[in-house]
Amino acid sequence: MQPKLNLEEHQLVISKLDENETVKTFDCGDSDLNDFILYESPLYRKEKLSITYVLKNADDINNEHVIAFFSLSNDRISLSDFDNKTKYNRFSRRFNNRKRLKSYPAAKIGRLAVNVSMKGHSIGTYLLKFIKTYFTSDNKTGCRFITVDAYAAAIPFYLNNGFVPLNDEDIDEPTRLLYFDLNDLDED
Ligand SMILES: CC(C)(COP(=O)(O)OP(=O)(O)OC[C@H]1O[C@@H](n2cnc3c(N)ncnc32)[C@H](O)[C@@H]1OP(=O)(O)O)[C@@H](O)C(=O)NCCC(=O)NCCS
Repeated sequence: MQPKLNLEEHQLVISKLDENETVKTFDCGDSDLNDFILYESPLYRKEKLSITYVLKNADDINNEHVIAFFSLSNDRISLSDFDNKTKYNRFSRRFNNRKRLKSYPAAKIGRLAVNVSMKGHSIGTYLLKFIKTYFTSDNKTGCRFITVDAYAAAIPFYLNNGFVPLNDEDIDEPTRLLYFDLNDLDED
């Protein structure tokens, strides 16, 4: 299913934040996520730990009314993410026998948030769709999975968007490791 939001129709863009670029105001209702986009994201960018992208109006050149943001880093899914080897082997069954590895390449959504005034308009869903496509069309490296340490409150949102828990170990934790298999994209 395609997301409802049409960037061109609303004159919106998804833009990568440069090292020296800051966001003036943002409130998603979570102070850690707000602090990240307002103060920390340039440092993460400088240290090459993550890249942050913002969704905004095309003419908002000073990032004064950012609608949503997400940050991405390289990641992997490996044996150590599972309770035991049997579960990892079960996970690996999606691969041809000769392509079963000790770890599989992934990209991690470090943070993702939508401005409080814009929640519930499929913007989060649109961003997830964008991220999935970002790592399947003309990608520079192999990347099979998208991962996220999802806040408990946001888990239904990710499940609605095709993400699944990697294991049951973290079921009662404040965050839960979820993944999306990019080979499932065509089945959306
Ligand atoms: C979670 C968040 C990104 C969702 O963005 P959004 O644009 O409001 O979500 P969407 O409108 O695309 O919602 C998609 C679906 O998920 C559901 N959903 C969204 N947030 C949900 C939540 N917190 N709990 C339960 N369901 C939720 C919606 O009902 C919708 O389902 P529907 O299409 O069947 O109605 C946004 O609420 C947010 O920024 N939250 C605060 C920060 C946060 O928790 N970020 C995640 C960090 S891991």
